[in-house]
Amino acid sequence: MSSIYNQLIAILTRYMSGVNAHGILGNAVRQALLNPDQLHPRDIEILIPRLDRGIRLFVEVARQKQLWTEIEALSGRRETPSHTVSIRSEQDISQARVLAKAMCENARAKSFVTQKVATVVSELARNIVSYTQGGSIELVMAEGSQARILVRATDTGPGIPNIDEVLSGRYRSATGLGKGLVGVKRLADRFNIRTSKNGTQIEAEVHL
Ligand SMILES: Nc1ncnc2c1ncn2[C@@H]1O[C@H](COP(=O)(O)OP(=O)(O)O)[C@@H](O)[C@H]1O
Ligand SMILES: [Mg+2]
Repeated sequence: MSSIYNQLIAILTRYMSGVNAHGILGNAVRQALLNPDQLHPRDIEILIPRLDRGIRLFVEVARQKQLWTEIEALSGRRETPSHTVSIRSEQDISQARVLAKAMCENARAKSFVTQKVATVVSELARNIVSYTQGGSIELVMAEGSQARILVRATDTGPGIPNIDEVLSGRYRSATGLGKGLVGVKRLADRFNIRTSKNGTQIEAEVHL
């Protein structure tokens, strides 16, 4: 089987059983008269409408949009280099992480860079869940002379009044290690934070 076929299966099986994933992808490939051994990223456009029914059948509504985003990222569509995941729960953290990894892999990032981005996304998303009522993580892939991914975490929480202490590395929190944001700053090639009592916005950019 081609690696595109296997990558599609890998995505689908995060949302449904392996049997169902093979079932709906196998059917879609047959209906589209494609050869599963020779799938090309551009074939994903043709498969999308044929996957639609199965995905609506087997995936809960709240997760469908995320699944489509992952599938489209694999197709390498240039029109969708930016995705936003709303962050409220533990599950949202892992979805943002999975999506960030898919975008990096799709941009052919080295695996240690993908890991770096996944860590940045996890730390920022976890802080949103731990310390605020909710927020979002926006992932923007920027190409050009230096390919890079921007992770923008936005929330309307209480802000971080002791941000200087936190970033100095002297801070020790009761809840965690207190080293999440310092770690993100160290991993990022560009780091910017704006925080006030109305909320926090953190941008961390990683070069691919
Ligand atoms: N988005 C946020 N909104 C409000 N407070 C935050 C936010 N992110 C971090 N903080 C505060 O900054 C502290 C340090 O965060 P971090 O470096 O991630 O370490 P940890 O989460 O392990 O405590 C947290 O303990 C918390 O008090
Ligand atoms: Mg943290």
